[in-house]
Amino acid sequence: MQEGIDQKSRFSQHAVFRAGVTVLFILLVFAIFRYMSVPKSFGQYGYYRGDNVTEWVSMDLSYAPPGNTVCSKCHEQVAQATSQAEHNKLNCQSCHGPLMAHVRKPAESHPAVAGNAELCGTCHRELVGRTKEQIASVKVGEHSGGLDCTRCHDPHQPWSKIGGRQW
Ligand code: HEC
Ligand code: HEC
Ligand code: HEC
Ligand code: HEC
Repeated sequence: MQEGIDQKSRFSQHAVFRAGVTVLFILLVFAIFRYMSVPKSFGQYGYYRGDNVTEWVSMDLSYAPPGNTVCSKCHEQVAQATSQAEHNKLNCQSCHGPLMAHVRKPAESHPAVAGNAELCGTCHRELVGRTKEQIASVKVGEHSGGLDCTRCHDPHQPWSKIGGRQW
């Protein structure tokens, strides 16, 4: 009888011991895995990777600051013309693309943009669900007969070439 109880308690001690070792082992594996997989700078500023901040800061800017004043310093005439017509709310770079490199060193880049259906159609192509009240739209192929839009529309003052509606 006595022997039976001893055996039983030894057995339960053994089971607890094994469970304990298993738990410790899992914790150890977790700790090693965590140590290896969590980046060094994690938690530097908060619950994210601190290095991320410096990486973003060191990235090169592709767009010049928003607003057209940065361009108007050197392209005053175009900026002036644009500001007096239908495209006055557009950022120069929404058509010309990212131009930070050009702003920094104008002579080293010659920004080119084609005034074709691809560019103008982005905003003016007739689309189901986009009404003419929202934006003036045309069936590009039919309307332009395949010509570049800038053959008839000045991109900065859309009506200036063809007389059309005056601002
Ligand atoms: C520091 C002066 C300066 C700034 C700022 C500047 N540009 Fe220029 N830009 C120039 C010069 C100079 C040229 C002529 C370079 C060449 O053609 O070799 C030029 C050329 C261009 C051209 C090509 C002109 C052509 O004849 O085809 C475009 C388009 C243009 N710039 C747009 C912009 C836009 C949009 C901005 C604002 C994001 C801008 N520029 C900001 C000086 C500047
Ligand atoms: C709606 C689109 C659009 C917007 C907005 C726009 N441009 Fe243009 N820009 C063009 C296109 C297209 C051409 C090329 C014209 C051509 O090929 O006849 C051009 C040509 C130019 C040129 C060279 C030819 C010229 O007219 O002197 C300059 C410089 C220029 N843009 C500067 C600017 C500046 C600065 C702004 C903002 C104030 C601006 N653009 C806004 C589409 C645009
Ligand atoms: C980023 C969007 C955008 C791009 C790209 C764009 N436009 Fe526009 N356009 C506008 C907005 C906004 C207006 C003013 C609102 C309106 O007229 O519906 C406008 C107005 C116009 C108008 C006058 C419409 C009217 O009823 O008086 C014409 C014409 C025009 N654009 C032609 C062009 C041409 C040509 C190009 C390409 C060189 C072009 N647009 C590129 C946004 C754009
Ligand atoms: C052959 C000359 C010509 C070409 C090329 C051309 N247009 Fe037009 N566009 C006109 C004339 C003329 C009008 C005014 C009469 C009308 O609405 O059809 C006009 C009107 C517009 C309007 C105003 C429509 C409205 O209902 O208010 C927009 C937007 C427009 N064009 C965009 C474009 C776009 C985008 C392209 C290039 C895919 C383009 N145009 C090519 C001559 C042209």
